[in-house]
Formats: sequence, C-alpha cells, structure tokens
Amino acid sequence: MEYQEIMTLNQEILARPVKPIPEDRLQKERDLYQKRNRRSLEIFEKARHLIPGGVEHNLSQSKPFPLAMDRAKGYHMWDVDGNVYVDYLMSGAPIILGHAFDSLDEKIIEIIREKGPATGLTSEYEILAAEEIIRHMPGVEMVRFLQSGTEADMAAIRIARAFTGKQKIIKVGGSYHGWSDQMVFSLHVPGTGLLNSRGITAESYAHLIDVKPNDFAALEKAFEDSKDKGGVAAVIVEPIGGESGTHPVHPDWNRRVRELCDHYQSLLIFDEVVTGFRLDMGGAQKYFGIMPDITVLGKIIAHGYPSAGAVGGRRDVMSVCQGGMGEKIYIGGTLAANPITTAACYYALKLMEEHDAVGKATAYADRLTASLNDLFSTRSDLGFFAYNFGPIMHYVTTAFFAVDLFSPDAFTQIMTRKQTADEYQVVTLAHGLCTLAGTRMYSCMQHDDEALNKTLEVWEYLLSLIPRG
Ligand SMILES: Cc1ncc(COP(=O)(O)O)c(C=O)c1O
Repeated sequence: MEYQEIMTLNQEILARPVKPIPEDRLQKERDLYQKRNRRSLEIFEKARHLIPGGVEHNLSQSKPFPLAMDRAKGYHMWDVDGNVYVDYLMSGAPIILGHAFDSLDEKIIEIIREKGPATGLTSEYEILAAEEIIRHMPGVEMVRFLQSGTEADMAAIRIARAFTGKQKIIKVGGSYHGWSDQMVFSLHVPGTGLLNSRGITAESYAHLIDVKPNDFAALEKAFEDSKDKGGVAAVIVEPIGGESGTHPVHPDWNRRVRELCDHYQSLLIFDEVVTGFRLDMGGAQKYFGIMPDITVLGKIIAHGYPSAGAVGGRRDVMSVCQGGMGEKIYIGGTLAANPITTAACYYALKLMEEHDAVGKATAYADRLTASLNDLFSTRSDLGFFAYNFGPIMHYVTTAFFAVDLFSPDAFTQIMTRKQTADEYQVVTLAHGLCTLAGTRMYSCMQHDDEALNKTLEVWEYLLSLIPRG
C-alpha cells in the first residue's frame, strides 16, 4: 500500500466514531481470557510485588493482565497455561528464521559447552560476525558491537558529534531510538514532546530538534536555524518511518534527508534495529538505495540471543572509535561482542541468507496483508486496513497513533481509541493470536497456510463481535 493511501485511510478512520465491542460481548471475552490464563494471573500477582508494575518488557500487553510465556518454536508460542498462539510478536522483531531454530541453537549450545560464555577479550566470532554484517550492509565498512539497540543509538549520536564537531541531532516525532536521555522525546505519537520524560533533565534535550514526520519544510528549517547554534551533527531516522512504519515515510523523505545532510555536512543515521536483516539482508539502505553514514543495528543480529547491538558505518566516520586516550570516543560494554552473541550473529545471518528468510517472511506478509484487507473490505463501515513493509506488518483499527495532537480533544481521542484497540487485542489473544501492541505483526520464514487461516479466522470472529453500521 502506498504512503498516500495509508495516510488517507488513517484519516478516514479518525473521521468515524470508534466502534467498541458491546460490553456484554466484551465481558464474555474477558471471562474467556481469565479462564484460559489462570497460571499467568498467578504469576502476575506474584510479580507485582517483586517487579515494578509486574512486567519487565515494554512490549508486554497488560490488559486484563499480562500473559506469561513458557516456550516458542517456529511461529508458535505456548503460554504457562498451555495455550498455543500464532506468534507475530517474534520477540519484538529479531526472530525471522522461526523460534528456537535448531541448527542455530545447536551451534550456541556447542559454544557454551566448549568455550564458555565470555572471556572479556577478542573472540574469533567477533571478526566473523563483523565480516557478515559488512558483507550485507552496503553502508557499513566497519562495525562496533554493543549490547542493545539503545546503546548502539547512543554510540551513533556520539560518533556523529565527534566526527562532525557539531551538536544538534534532528529526530523525527513518533520514532523510537531507545531510551537514552536525549532520545526519549515525542515517542509513539508525534508532537508528544516531553510526555515520557519524567526523570530526564531539560538540559538533556538542549541539542535535540524534533521534527514532525514527513515535514520537509520543518526539516530544512531545522538545518538552517542550527547553523549558528552548533550545527547539525546528524539526522537520525527509522528509514521506513517512526515505530517501524507506524508513521510511514513519504517516498521522497529519505532521499531529501540525505540531500540536506550532504548540503549541511551533517551525517545521516539509519536506525535499522528493526529493518536490518528483516526488510532486506542489506537493510533499508539497500531496499531504498540510500546510503546512511552510520547504521544502528540491534536484536536481530543475534536472532533473539541476548546482548545484541552494533553501530557501523563509513570507515572515516567509525575511526573516531579508535586512537589513544582523549582521541577516541568512549563507548563499550563488558559483555559486548561476547562469543555467544557474535557467534549467534555469524550463524544467524548465514542461515537467514541460506534459507532466504527475508524472501519467505515477506511473501507471507504480502499474502496475509492482502487477505486481511479482503476481509476488512467486507466491513466497510469500520474502515480497518493493513499494510506492510516486507515482513513488518501493520493493521489499523482505531488509528490512535495518527491522532493530530493539535486537535482540541487529542488526548481524549488517543485514550478512547487506544482503549478500544486494547479491547480488540483481548479478543485476539483469547483466541490465540499474539501481535505487537495490537497494531503490528512480524512474520518469520515459517509462517504458513495454517497460520494464515487461523489468523483470518480470529479476525473474522473479532469483526463479528462489532455491530454493523
Ligand atoms: C528502531 C529501534 N531502535 C532502537 C530500539 C532499541 O533497541 P533495544 O530494545 O535493544 O535497546 C528499538 C527497539 O525496539 C527499535 O525498534
């Protein structure tokens, strides 16, 4: 689906009142959820006293209460009560071969048995993994491993400032680049600014410029206005748009950002934590044919194994990470580039290529998206729609992400629409579909006809709960 169509369909949903599931039907779904998930509830009750909020993961769904998972294999996931799910969370995107992929796991188990988890010094896997990343990512000539996407984003910004000697960072509203002080700004919904900034000093944002998605004029103005104020060190973008394409990019956006970065001698950072090795083995940079100066990679490089993050880029740019004391920028991490993570990276990337994981996951996502849109077209009164960037799928039901913050009742709109989307998610979960935040789905190469049919069946049921008209 093209950018313009997505924007139009979002607006059409926003122009309609939300369509909640009537209370009596919803209560039955809540009851079913409760009945199926007794053990999850017990775990949550215990967790609440040990872990603030009872959950650790940003991606955990919390209504009516969070589910606890037991195991995952292929595209299936089983919760602690033994219920099975068609999984589209894929651990938050890193899984594309399928969960617990035997030939990858066997390698890792062998390494743990024979070599131990870490030495704190160079392992050969570090070099093998770096070679693999560099071989695939056209904009990466050198790479440094870190421990998470958040860390890699922090490093990218530091590298950009050190290399250019400039200060400002331009970030696009609604994008996520980890939770470091300066990046927690205008999260989820563009324009929300400081909403999530509790605990962060105002000074942390002194050199951050927030522009609205696809606002070409604001972008250019930010460069121009920064000329006498320290200059723009970098623009950081999610190359398919904020929150992995929830706020999709205009087809000319990345090209224009590149042009402006060149013109003002600033660097372009592509945050490819989700798009790298998922949209394409060469990331969004290969997909769009636009070269960033710095690339941020995360969880998928270790395919779900822990401690994964990397920053890579042009050789001259990356050279600020080397040299003597006072010359190089200070980044690191005790367990960064450990043998388990880097071996997982090396073998996972090899397996993804060998199995054409991206191609297969994309073919499934194309099919599922088209089938969902066919199904949604039978309920034109709702206006629901789905779109995908390769194996990154979005479905839009209440469009709470697209609410214009400058509209008078913006916050009420967001809350009401989010609540209805959460209620839809209770139904999908109670019937065995696990998605991300009730709006996003990631496919893996093993999703098949059975997964597709099950997904459509659940959606058909959900639609049947919402009154027509
Ligand atoms: C685009 C993007 N950048 C950065 C991050 C942060 O990565 P991590 O959770 O590994 O810190 C995420 C996490 O989902 C992400 O989606």
